[in-house]
Amino acid sequence: MEIASNAQQCGRCRLRFMAIFAFLLAVLVSRAGAYDPLDPNGNITIKWDVVSWTPDGYVAAVTMNNFQMYRHIPTPGWTLGWAWAKKEVIWSMVGAQTTEQGDCSKFKGNIPHCCKKVPTVVDLLPGVPYNQQIANCCKGGVVAAWGQDPSAAVSSFQVSVGLAGTSNKTVKLPRNFTLLGPGPGYTCGPAKIVPSTTFLTPDRRRKTQALMTWNVTCTYSQFLARKNPSCCVSFSSFYNETITPCPSCACGCQHKNCIKSDSKLLSLVGVNTPRKDNTPLLQCTRHMCPIRVHWHVKLNYKDYWRAKIAITNFNYRMNYTQWTLVAQHPNLNNVTQVFSFGYKPLVPYQSINDTGMFYGMKFYNDLIMEAGPFGNVQSEVLLQKDKNTFTLKQGWAFPRKVYFNGDECMLPPPDTYPFLPNSAIFKSLPFTMFILSVIFTLIIIL
Ligand SMILES: *[C@@H]1O[C@H](CO)[C@@H](O)[C@H](O)[C@H]1NC(C)=O
Ligand SMILES: *[C@@H]1O[C@H](CO)[C@@H](O)[C@H](O)[C@H]1NC(C)=O
Ligand SMILES: *[C@@H]1O[C@H](CO)[C@@H](O)[C@H](O)[C@H]1NC(C)=O
Ligand SMILES: *[C@@H]1O[C@H](CO)[C@@H](O)[C@H](O)[C@H]1NC(C)=O
Ligand SMILES: *[C@@H]1O[C@H](CO)[C@@H](O)[C@H](O)[C@H]1NC(C)=O
Ligand SMILES: *[C@@H]1O[C@H](CO)[C@@H](O)[C@H](O)[C@H]1NC(C)=O
Ligand SMILES: *[C@@H]1O[C@H](CO)[C@@H](O)[C@H](O)[C@H]1NC(C)=O
Ligand SMILES: *[C@@H]1O[C@H](CO)[C@@H](O)[C@H](O)[C@H]1NC(C)=O
Repeated sequence: MEIASNAQQCGRCRLRFMAIFAFLLAVLVSRAGAYDPLDPNGNITIKWDVVSWTPDGYVAAVTMNNFQMYRHIPTPGWTLGWAWAKKEVIWSMVGAQTTEQGDCSKFKGNIPHCCKKVPTVVDLLPGVPYNQQIANCCKGGVVAAWGQDPSAAVSSFQVSVGLAGTSNKTVKLPRNFTLLGPGPGYTCGPAKIVPSTTFLTPDRRRKTQALMTWNVTCTYSQFLARKNPSCCVSFSSFYNETITPCPSCACGCQHKNCIKSDSKLLSLVGVNTPRKDNTPLLQCTRHMCPIRVHWHVKLNYKDYWRAKIAITNFNYRMNYTQWTLVAQHPNLNNVTQVFSFGYKPLVPYQSINDTGMFYGMKFYNDLIMEAGPFGNVQSEVLLQKDKNTFTLKQGWAFPRKVYFNGDECMLPPPDTYPFLPNSAIFKSLPFTMFILSVIFTLIIIL
């Protein structure tokens, strides 16, 4: 008896060691760059189309396309900056504005919209007068994820630039682009001249062409965005009453204040008002995350199985709009039905189809309200079993990766997953082998 339990414990500590090792490796790999294996081509591209030359510069239509499958720009929206190469000024803007005018004292009569060397541009809010709008502007800087709604994954404005080059030989491209979406995390490359965009005239009978076009590509890295994860995952199952909670301090406990859910302070007026810098007001939990995703293995039928997914908001100062949830699980290639959420498979590599995106239905559950009674959404997924791989053992039924709003969530360590009763730890050899082979593959890739 004694020996068996010792062996069991040792098996577990080995598993734990491997989990930590795999985690460290994953951190190293992720830190190496902005590359996201679940969305390898994801980026935000900012395109400048010069639509006319003016006596002292040009007018450009600027279009921001979000080509990221599951990372959107939520409220309070994007902030775009760049540095002018020479002494350019912005005479006027349509569909956006700079946050500061800067020093325009050199000008008499006609005063530019902005004279700063490094202008900072934000979108206008919905509802501005019609003559200040253009297509795809004025959404408060909110841009949908490409995978969720390609038609809303774009934002545009027009800028009239003065004291600039007036031909494609003399114009100097803006430099040092920065993008906040709305927080940090994006890195932008240099502007590059690309083949001029062609446009269809409104009657669609004639093609016109930009006089000159340049693109800037920005990519996201979670590690540039924040030190700690911003969400965590907990598990439960019908076959074991243990609930595996989010790891303690999954989102970091240092320098974090929180408020108890029964605190009288919560009834104060204005306690929910978002702060300019987006500081959260968190409900006190052991994990201290603003978002928890719970995955419950609910039912096991003959040919199908069913999982329940719940997302809970613990931030009293945030309503999550147009949220997205990405999960990686080998059985997501056989999703039969998703109840009350939208679902799209993400197929980053043609051979593997194990990743999908869940999102809310418009006007129904695409908003996760601030922490409190309405701060959660849930859904169920029905999956068709692949008889060769399906098992309830070794936590197979739980997701391998989870992302909320494009940020990876912290999973519990594998040895704490709800176990199928009577499955001795020795039977977890295949799982150990799996982790080993993953580590081995990673080492080879590196
Ligand atoms: C940006 O994303 C688009 C769409 O996925 C892709 O075609 C393009 O190659 C990407 N650009 C860069 C520089 O990665
Ligand atoms: C430039 O950006 C646009 C999207 O804004 C994209 O369609 C086009 O492919 C990009 N061109 C290049 C050469 O990356
Ligand atoms: C762009 O950034 C680099 C490095 O930060 C700096 O040396 C350079 O002067 C900047 N360019 C402009 C035009 O501000
Ligand atoms: C600049 O414009 C001229 C015609 O106006 C065109 O022939 C030339 O190809 C353009 N060059 C570039 C780099 O776009
Ligand atoms: C969330 O939305 C509700 C309803 O629109 C609003 O009353 C509340 O103030 C919002 N909370 C935050 C934190 O923005
Ligand atoms: C991926 O799986 C989904 C079901 O989740 C299926 O609808 C889709 O056709 C699959 N795509 C590929 C390329 O296998
Ligand atoms: C579901 O799994 C079965 C068994 O592996 C497979 O034959 C079938 O093609 C899968 N269905 C889809 C849509 O991938
Ligand atoms: C449930 O799973 C836990 C591991 O999370 C395990 O310690 C426990 O023994 C399992 N319960 C049963 C009845 O097997």
